[in-house]
Amino acid sequence: MSSDVATEVRRRRTFAIISHPDAGKSTMTEALALHARMISEAGAIHGKAGRKSTVSDWMEMEKARGISVSSTALQFNYTSQGSPTTGPDDPELPHVINLVDTPGHADFSEDTYRVLTAVDAAVMLIDAAKGLEPQTLKLFQVCRHRGIPVVTVVNKWDRPGRTPLELIDEISERIGLTPTPLFVPVGIAGDFRGLLDRRTGEYVHFTRTAGGAKIAPEEIMGADVAAEREGDAWVAATEESELLSEMGQDHDQEMFLAGQTSPMIFASAMLNFGVRQLLETLVELAPAPAGRADVDGRLREVTDPFSAVVFKVQAGMDASHRDRLAYMRIVSGEFERGMVVTHAQTGKPFATKYAQAVFGRDRSTVDTAYPGDVVGLVNATALAPGDTLYDDPRVQFPPIPSFAPEHFSSLRATTADKYKQFRKAMDQLDSEGVVQVLRNDTRGDASPVLAAVGPMQFEVVTARMKSEFNVDTVIEPLGYTLARRTDEHSAPELDRQRGVEVFTRTDGAILALFSDKWRLQYIEKEHSDLTLEPLVAAAD
Ligand code: G4P
Repeated sequence: MSSDVATEVRRRRTFAIISHPDAGKSTMTEALALHARMISEAGAIHGKAGRKSTVSDWMEMEKARGISVSSTALQFNYTSQGSPTTGPDDPELPHVINLVDTPGHADFSEDTYRVLTAVDAAVMLIDAAKGLEPQTLKLFQVCRHRGIPVVTVVNKWDRPGRTPLELIDEISERIGLTPTPLFVPVGIAGDFRGLLDRRTGEYVHFTRTAGGAKIAPEEIMGADVAAEREGDAWVAATEESELLSEMGQDHDQEMFLAGQTSPMIFASAMLNFGVRQLLETLVELAPAPAGRADVDGRLREVTDPFSAVVFKVQAGMDASHRDRLAYMRIVSGEFERGMVVTHAQTGKPFATKYAQAVFGRDRSTVDTAYPGDVVGLVNATALAPGDTLYDDPRVQFPPIPSFAPEHFSSLRATTADKYKQFRKAMDQLDSEGVVQVLRNDTRGDASPVLAAVGPMQFEVVTARMKSEFNVDTVIEPLGYTLARRTDEHSAPELDRQRGVEVFTRTDGAILALFSDKWRLQYIEKEHSDLTLEPLVAAAD
């Protein structure tokens, strides 16, 4: 066991990008990979002539299918160009950045929430012309719920958009997060010349490269030179910066870590402007992986023996292999491939011979990994999201909470002869956490009820039933819109009520579904003795 776990932890940053579709997440991911010199040219996402990259192949696939096919992590090294105090202790060692991908579909789903349990920080990417959009808001609420610090990036500053102060106000007012810009743009949206570094007072001027395929060269200059060169645009930027200081909107590390303020950067992922500044911000300000409390509230320190949490299970990524991958985020200790660890939920040993780093179709073997890293385990049939793996001493982390579903549909196979495959498929999708599966005696096992946070999960189920298990299914929306947790004692009375139906979820929870909130309110009033507890809501 290496004694250097602490050093490895210090140089790691694990984050996700949260954004509304089209804000530029794929473009930014590629720009980050370019800056880390993982790829030599950016821009293949939309197949522009003469530009290619392998990194974003998976995103194409994701878009073409319209559903999330991958939830993986891109790992790269980044050597900070900032002051030596911002780098890891050993200046020879670069930072290790883990960018965990959030599912790409527009619908909010539990997958997204689970992915966000695996990161230590989030980058909220906003389109300069559109400002806050619904998906960004929902994802931000999840970050707040989990206490994840957020860095805000206003993207597409090379295109006409709003003013910096409008965007800042919108974020403060609508989500109560105070932006503290580290850099303000020089030049209005659509005329992006560079950034004023508010902490040094210096000007970072960018030069465009052909098609934005390469890292944009930077020139750093003092205020006098900047004023001479950029004239009014520089004056406007300095005035904005002063105004922000007067309003108290300067960076404060404690407030950032407490989720009250958000360091902000203006960027163009397409032109690679502001991308290095984002990386520097992450290595300088975002927290390194920390220990985690177990089910009894005891802290598993990062330097304790190996432990990890499974946050995503996925099957069928590769149709020819029919494999099942479980992704774990390492919480503590050093992971070495081949280690036999214990699966806390069953107490059984789990061999890690086939540990992999997975990014899209690319897979590579992982030999060692440290806290903050994401490792894919092949053929992990016993593992479910929220499960713990450990090396002695034993530890079990709290389960990932499941969400209050708002969409309910019944599912059945079109022909009775496929019943066996149907059941097998249902068990599989249930254990992966694709949907919640509810059953009761009246409906029987042949037509369980699926419950989800967003309706797109139903399409994922029917598509996978067909492609992986060759079962044609019919899905029928039910007239229920909300669920409450109840108990055995209250269940029979609830079942007698009009507009209510009681089910048992696979994890044993008894849920009552209601047609609408008025029905629920009426029953709560008339039968105050019945147990009806709210489930965790997506936006709590
Ligand atoms: P997503 O993953 O968040 O869905 O967004 P994606 O990166 O695919 O970007 C969505 C669109 O926004 C793309 O345009 C992309 O080129 C563009 N875009 C991303 N970042 C920037 C930026 O900084 N500036 C500008 N001007 N555009 C940006 P598209 O029309 O779908 O494709 P394309 O024809 O431009 O390639």
